[in-house]
Amino acid sequence: MNFKIIDNFFSSENFEYMMTSAMLSTYKKTWQPNSQVLLNRANSYACYETKEFTHSDKSLKLFLNTFQEKTGMVVIEFNTFFRKIYSKELKNIFKYGIIPHQDNEKYNLAGIVHYNSTGIDDGTGLYSSNEKEIFYQIEPDVLIGAKPNRCVFYDSQIWHRPLQDENNEMRIVQPFFLKIK
Ligand SMILES: [Fe+2]
Repeated sequence: MNFKIIDNFFSSENFEYMMTSAMLSTYKKTWQPNSQVLLNRANSYACYETKEFTHSDKSLKLFLNTFQEKTGMVVIEFNTFFRKIYSKELKNIFKYGIIPHQDNEKYNLAGIVHYNSTGIDDGTGLYSSNEKEIFYQIEPDVLIGAKPNRCVFYDSQIWHRPLQDENNEMRIVQPFFLKIK
């Protein structure tokens, strides 16, 4: 299983900039996975997302520069934005999170930067199963805890789940999807 954790991802000055930007950005009410039209917001992973960062956003530059500098990888395509999740909007927060899924295979890597939460209950669950159709595995093999300014990323085809700590009223993360050269 290919994954990596980078703590103190942004410099403290840049993390402060990103956090301020996450707090001041405009968010749109949405849900995941919103490609599944059969689901609606009430019975899915309800969240709020900003627009995807673009080249005119300082946030994008900070993120890509930091990622490339810290990993030595060259990013050729990307999609990243801020996401907020309110515990009270999730009907069922069960032990191992919401629905396990794989991310868009157009990108090699998927991951998140944590902004405001700490602990295993607010992190990410990764699965070793690589079933394409029916998914039987119940417990994740790896739980990666949340920590402010922690960057976690993995192969986009690893099944995973966002966890959510019901005692944390609101979770702010920056999901990202990257195609690497
Ligand atoms: Fe995902």
